[in-house]
Amino acid sequence: VNVFGRPFRSIWVEPDARVPRIIDQTLLPHSFEARTLTSLEDAAEAIRSMRVRGAPLIGATAAYGLALGLANDPSEAGLRDAARHLIETRPTAVNLRWAIDRMVDGVLACAEGDRADRAWVEAAQICDEDVATNERIGEVGLEVLRELAASKPNEPLQILTHCNAGWLATVDWGTALAPIYKAQAAGLPVHVWVDETRPRNQGASLTAFELREQGIPHTVIVDNAGGHLMQRGDVDVVLVGSDRTTAHGDVCNKIGTYLKALAARDHEIPFYVALPVSTIDWTLGAGVGVVPIEERAASEVRVVRGRGPSGDLVEVELFDAVTPVANPAFDVTPSRLVTGLVTECGVYPAEPLALQGLKERVEKTTGRDR
Ligand code: MRU
Repeated sequence: VNVFGRPFRSIWVEPDARVPRIIDQTLLPHSFEARTLTSLEDAAEAIRSMRVRGAPLIGATAAYGLALGLANDPSEAGLRDAARHLIETRPTAVNLRWAIDRMVDGVLACAEGDRADRAWVEAAQICDEDVATNERIGEVGLEVLRELAASKPNEPLQILTHCNAGWLATVDWGTALAPIYKAQAAGLPVHVWVDETRPRNQGASLTAFELREQGIPHTVIVDNAGGHLMQRGDVDVVLVGSDRTTAHGDVCNKIGTYLKALAARDHEIPFYVALPVSTIDWTLGAGVGVVPIEERAASEVRVVRGRGPSGDLVEVELFDAVTPVANPAFDVTPSRLVTGLVTECGVYPAEPLALQGLKERVEKTTGRDR
């Protein structure tokens, strides 16, 4: 996408240098700063502290982290240690494991002396494929939006989204926001309700920033407003991303997604999930109680950060540090609440048989199991 009139990806490598660069998402929307990753540990820290976040982007960052690590130790033991270290950074999004497995398989097929070169090529391929995949999700999702919009000509389609599933969560385009970018380009009028997404505020800080930069009409709402807006008839469709979807179609996504799906079902509002096939964990059937749910620091709930009166970023404590806090970062929406899965291969029902068909189709075309 273009930001400040210039094309940007969320991670890129400077020409002729093995130096990956990222946008530090912890500073957005207040400041747009690039940061250089110089080591495996830099990549791990960027994922852990959520300088980069979003399922596909943490996979891409881990791929470059492995490439950086190979410069110091190209042995199989070194590679496997680095892979373990990166996998431990965040437990829920399956794209992290997907990217690392793909890197390890590719790199171990080479002699030690060729492994670093191969890793840089493979990481770049993961990024390029992610961009193409998400653009395709955008095209597939646009047709879904077009169909929904047909019943209300001359009025913007009202879309509710949760968290950030835009270009900042992927290498480019995004998943749930890709169809929205395509809609804008196709002249289909839309308005997006953006859940603020406590406690990290990915909606208010990142999705709203993205939509503003692209000139797409949007409104930030508090996380609990969605049900009320649905009751009032102000939401036509809910469109979210996913961090891990199971082979039965259960969808793990940012905490709060499940409540939106429940409210959408009560009002017969379609609830779509946009995701690349690499987000499907084929090893899991039912997801509730099974997908590992990341528990993040209490400070994320207790402390809010924003711009102070002097213009600097300041932190404010909402309550004291002795008050107990729970901070589960994701939840699982059962497949029965999901209208459809918008993938690069088309729209699939969230049910085991259809997804088995998708798996076979992907294996046939790529020769890979996902
Ligand atoms: O904790 P985050 O910010 O990494 O969570 C991100 C999400 O939950 C997104 O909605 C999800 O990764 C899908 S985006 C491609």
